[in-house]
Amino acid sequence: MSRVKVLVIGGGAREHALALALSRDPAVAGIVCAPGNAGTPAVAENRPVNPLDPQAVAQLAVDVAADLVVVGPEAPLVAGVADACRERGIPTFGPSAAAAKLEGSKSFAKDVMVAAGVPTATAGSFTTEAAAIAGLKAARPPYVVKFDGLAAGKGVTVTADLELATAAVREAFGGAFGGGPSDTCVVLEEYLDGPEVSLFAITDGTTVVPLTPAQDFKRIGDGDVGPNTGGMGAYSPLPWAPDDFVAALQRTVLEPTVAEMARRGIPFSGLLFAGLAITADGPKVIEFNARFGDPETQVVLARLATPLAGLLMAAATGTLAAHPPLQWREDAAVTVVVAAHNYPGTPRTGDVISGLDEAAAVNGVDVLHAGTSFDADGNVVSAGGRVLSVTATGKDLAAARDAAYEAVDRIKLNGSTFRTDIALRAVNLDISIPTRPEEHR
Ligand code: AMP
Ligand code: GLY
Repeated sequence: MSRVKVLVIGGGAREHALALALSRDPAVAGIVCAPGNAGTPAVAENRPVNPLDPQAVAQLAVDVAADLVVVGPEAPLVAGVADACRERGIPTFGPSAAAAKLEGSKSFAKDVMVAAGVPTATAGSFTTEAAAIAGLKAARPPYVVKFDGLAAGKGVTVTADLELATAAVREAFGGAFGGGPSDTCVVLEEYLDGPEVSLFAITDGTTVVPLTPAQDFKRIGDGDVGPNTGGMGAYSPLPWAPDDFVAALQRTVLEPTVAEMARRGIPFSGLLFAGLAITADGPKVIEFNARFGDPETQVVLARLATPLAGLLMAAATGTLAAHPPLQWREDAAVTVVVAAHNYPGTPRTGDVISGLDEAAAVNGVDVLHAGTSFDADGNVVSAGGRVLSVTATGKDLAAARDAAYEAVDRIKLNGSTFRTDIALRAVNLDISIPTRPEEHR
């Protein structure tokens, strides 16, 4: 591959991780991150853009002479940013708006999974509040209530309490996640019991190349308590996962899904993210996402030895079958998210962050920025809910975890919070896959 200029769309820690990995690829001549954050100028040129405006993004790609566009978040994909860039003839990593519905609509994703024979929770869709409440009353706890649209990881309620589940239905139909009573849809589904895994695959619509699996921590509090967030930390590899696990999921989940999308005439190219629960009946899909996960990307890319630009370019140009097998580092990786005061509610912004250089000086650590910007005096300040994703590699998970937390301790941000138990149960080998109770014959 001749040297390429890459435009990365987005401004979170995932995009910082993508830009950092691209900057370490000798085939990359330059990186533009739009809009980026206060961390990305270390590896890229920041350019302002409205990531939800497909024509503005496509024009920027032309203006900066991008050879490859990489779209980070889901909302630009659902808005058609990848389509607009491809229409200008620029290879783009990320699905079309039509294919991004795999993430944008939970009922569409269920339909695809059922057609493809992909194991998932049984579910029903409800388009009126009364029908959804009747559906809840007929269901058994724990209840799983999902708003059928994009809600930044916050549109899902899992509870054993019928009143809380009912309140979640009312909230969704009341417009809490956008939309009104007439265009809201709620999905009620079977509760899946078992440890969760995030498995990413790069695909060009035909060939599917799985990445190394990771585990995310969705709840705000230690011990998995409190509300769901976008993700408070992640680690990779998963010492507790069965050996043949990824190869099996490639056959049972990833390839059938990509094939079903192609069969429907809406080929999915880009990153297919399967969120799975490893249940007593085997892995089942909780959800699909149409883009790299955040914060899982930070640990997956920290372990990827294969140059990233060539891989993403192969997916964008339909040549993945000819790409060499991926190489992975032996190191383990852990990332800890530092969140702003009051996240995942309305986070406080504008607090000055210090200790960033001291944190980055810890061996094996990259301090990836998420919600950060510069104030008028040039200080780095908080600008979002998840502020930093402190990522470390080490010879094993324990070493990576120690380095990540040593770095987190060096960072000062008023009122911030972070989980202290990221990867702890994996280090202690305290994660197990549920077993089915003995069947009586
Ligand atoms: P989602 O946005 O669909 O990934 O859901 C967010 C989180 O809610 C997941 O990561 C799970 O922790 C939980 N969740 C969603 N669906 C289920 C389910 N069917 N059973 C158990 N937990 C679930
Ligand atoms: N960390 C989960 C996600 O990116 O959706």
